[in-house]
Amino acid sequence: MAKLTLKDIDLKDKTVLVRADFNVPLDASLNITDDIRIQATLPTIKYILEHGAKKLVIMSHLGRPEGKPVAKYSLKPVGARLKELLGQDVLFLNDCVGDNIKQEIDKSKEKVILLENLRYHAEEEANDAGFAKQLASLADIFVNDAFGTAHRAHASTEGVTHFLKSAAGFLLEKEIKYLGGAVSNPQKPFMVILGGAKVSDKIGVIENLLPKCDAIIVGGGMAYTFLKAQGRQIGNSKLEKEKLDLAKSILEQAKKLNKAILLPIDHVVVDNIDPAAKTEIVGQDIPVGKIAVDIGPLTIKLFEEKLKSAKTIVWNGPLGIFEMDAFSKGTQEIAKFIATLKTTSIIGGGDTAAAIAKFKLEDKMSHISTGGGASLEFLEGKILPGIAALTDK
Ligand code: 3PG
Repeated sequence: MAKLTLKDIDLKDKTVLVRADFNVPLDASLNITDDIRIQATLPTIKYILEHGAKKLVIMSHLGRPEGKPVAKYSLKPVGARLKELLGQDVLFLNDCVGDNIKQEIDKSKEKVILLENLRYHAEEEANDAGFAKQLASLADIFVNDAFGTAHRAHASTEGVTHFLKSAAGFLLEKEIKYLGGAVSNPQKPFMVILGGAKVSDKIGVIENLLPKCDAIIVGGGMAYTFLKAQGRQIGNSKLEKEKLDLAKSILEQAKKLNKAILLPIDHVVVDNIDPAAKTEIVGQDIPVGKIAVDIGPLTIKLFEEKLKSAKTIVWNGPLGIFEMDAFSKGTQEIAKFIATLKTTSIIGGGDTAAAIAKFKLEDKMSHISTGGGASLEFLEGKILPGIAALTDK
């Protein structure tokens, strides 16, 4: 990577400011329900501590408190979990800027300090230069490990790099290696699986990856706009009417490029979306009044047949409403099948990562991205400002 990385910098006796993405889900009692984003940052944190840094100051956002303190978005529970995971004390400070904060950091006996939610200040998302300068004044060097927030040009991701030497952390590097490798230099055959509710969310990915991949496999809610564009009956299944022409033109473009777009050939349907609803399997056309909630068994076979020769697979978006067990089979079977393949399997973050975690197949995939929006923008071929702003080598 052409950017400065953690291993390029001398950490000895330095105070290091790390931007992490600790935007973790919390339940109503403020318990962390999934700490994968904290765990994924541990290699960077441990490396910095083991290489002689004087202090390690970690900053993050959590949720969208819109520029003011909101108790349920406090990073305090993250501080407690970080302490458990590191096995060492973590000082939690109740703000992220100000003279007090600087003094507390200087006099702290703890080596690891976690600052309160950056988004309690509107200046963070506004990428305010003064705010970025205050953050930068807390340390000697900046390390960005927040891949999940790399698509945001905020004070803590972009602004701060104007004031400090800035390097990529190990998580950021790993995400770029896998996602970047798939986008720019995939081992072929390269297959892309797209799902999720809306075609509109995936247009950028299709446009960027269609010329580069060998086939796109489509499932989930977005498949029905494509099927309708092919003249199929879709009953009451999800349809984005205003995207029908676009779906048609994508199918035509694929034909011209000689690329396969595989759509479901059978479906699990219900009368209404309810976990206890009676399910039925139907063929290519969906009867009037029925709603498709998952891909059917013939589609699973079709997709597996295509995927078995893949050397690289990128998967973004579930193939059915996997959150409800009765409609999760398609997503689960395809995940289990990929787990048996000798292929580089890259799972986009967000819902797809949640599905893989639900089926306990995390360690069977080559890479599961910690970024939802960020991984999508990366696959769209966009430049992520949090990465672009780092110091060149
Ligand atoms: C995410 O969860 O995708 C990141 O933490 C970014 O959060 P945001 O969409 O609120 O900027």
